[in-house]
Amino acid sequence: MATLRQMNTASTSATTEAEAARDRMIARLRELGALHSPAVAEAFRSVPRHAFTCDAALDQAYAAETSVVTKRDAAGAALSSVSAPRVQALMLEQAGVEAGMRCLEIGSGGYNAALLAELVGTDGEVTTLDIDAEITGRARRLLDEAGYTRVNVVCADGDAGAPAHAPFDRIIATAGAWDIPPAWIDQLTPGGRIVVPLRVRGLTRSVVFEREGDRLVSRDLQSCGFVPMLGAGAHPVRLAALHEDGDAAVALRLDEDERVDTGLLSAALASPPAAVWSGVEIGGEEPFDGLDLWLACTSGPAFALMVATKAARAAGLVASASPVGVAALVDGASFAYRTVRPAQAADAYEFGARAHGPDGSSLAARLADRIREWDRGHRHGPGPVLQVHPAGTPDDRLPSSDLVVDKTHTRITISWP
Ligand SMILES: C[S@@+](CC[C@H](N)C(=O)[O-])C[C@H]1O[C@@H](n2cnc3c(N)ncnc32)[C@H](O)[C@@H]1O
Repeated sequence: MATLRQMNTASTSATTEAEAARDRMIARLRELGALHSPAVAEAFRSVPRHAFTCDAALDQAYAAETSVVTKRDAAGAALSSVSAPRVQALMLEQAGVEAGMRCLEIGSGGYNAALLAELVGTDGEVTTLDIDAEITGRARRLLDEAGYTRVNVVCADGDAGAPAHAPFDRIIATAGAWDIPPAWIDQLTPGGRIVVPLRVRGLTRSVVFEREGDRLVSRDLQSCGFVPMLGAGAHPVRLAALHEDGDAAVALRLDEDERVDTGLLSAALASPPAAVWSGVEIGGEEPFDGLDLWLACTSGPAFALMVATKAARAAGLVASASPVGVAALVDGASFAYRTVRPAQAADAYEFGARAHGPDGSSLAARLADRIREWDRGHRHGPGPVLQVHPAGTPDDRLPSSDLVVDKTHTRITISWP
């Protein structure tokens, strides 16, 4: 049996190890550009993340870019997780939470609510809400054990917000949303902010919106991935399977109202591809999050994300094996998708388009043109501005934009300055 002195020494060294892991995580978040304000860094330093990640080893709990899954469905898909610190940091920076604010978090894990509690301090209030009672039970227990007893934990569908605790200066959704429910706007203070992983045409971006009268206007967008929102706001992506043979699978992910003829496109995939190269090059480490969003905004009515397995690429069916999907244009019996090939410079790639079907060549040329336009006009620009208007807003009251997306409760415009 261990003596008290041994036990005390062991727990001190565990604390020191956790603190060291926390410091490394904070340094890495700064390196990644996800963390810059002293207040958010101090919150990350104050909250013991490993107290919310249960069985995860310390290096896993504090890995800057890794989420820790806390619940899976029968097929093994993640239903809940403690999000990756990188995503939490960038969303907290987007939110700009200040002392004394009232915050609502939609989707609970406990850890992010504790970070929010540190940021708002004793004069503020944090409410965290989850649709799953097992998750709220766990969050309540872990928050209490870590000393965050003042955080309100509510089990409900976040689609309705949390009227009993409203209004909120900040609403932070931590599940992927397809629309902005009216309750969130109703429960937001004038000048308040909503930070939400919003999906438009299959692409999810963490968007920070500020309220301007009856509309929301985006201030910043960041790439991210999240488990999808369940409940009243759920809106599953549709899959058009073009090929399925053992492990080799190719499909198009379709979001809003895009309609495609799966039979014709399956036949097209079996035909020889056409390729057009854009001459636009990119370094291996350079982000290009804006490109697919640009293509989504400027590709006409049938935009999709092409997903394929490694086996499909190895079999030569497609030139990409992205599980998330690459931008694809569909026109009748043809489709084209974004691809890359190594450029002359070391660690650089050239964007291009590969296409199948009777109009494949012209579709690939169109996609390559769009890539060149992005390179000339938007690659180094501020990125798009999204505006959220109530559904039913007539066209002539919408701002001029590159794309209008009709959701259930809202009309979202996207414009590229
Ligand atoms: C990524 S986890 C939340 C992570 C958490 N914020 C943290 O501390 O890292 C997403 C959560 O959203 C929840 N969720 C999904 N749909 C929801 C809805 N309609 N209302 C409330 N919670 C929802 C899921 O049950 C899941 O626990």
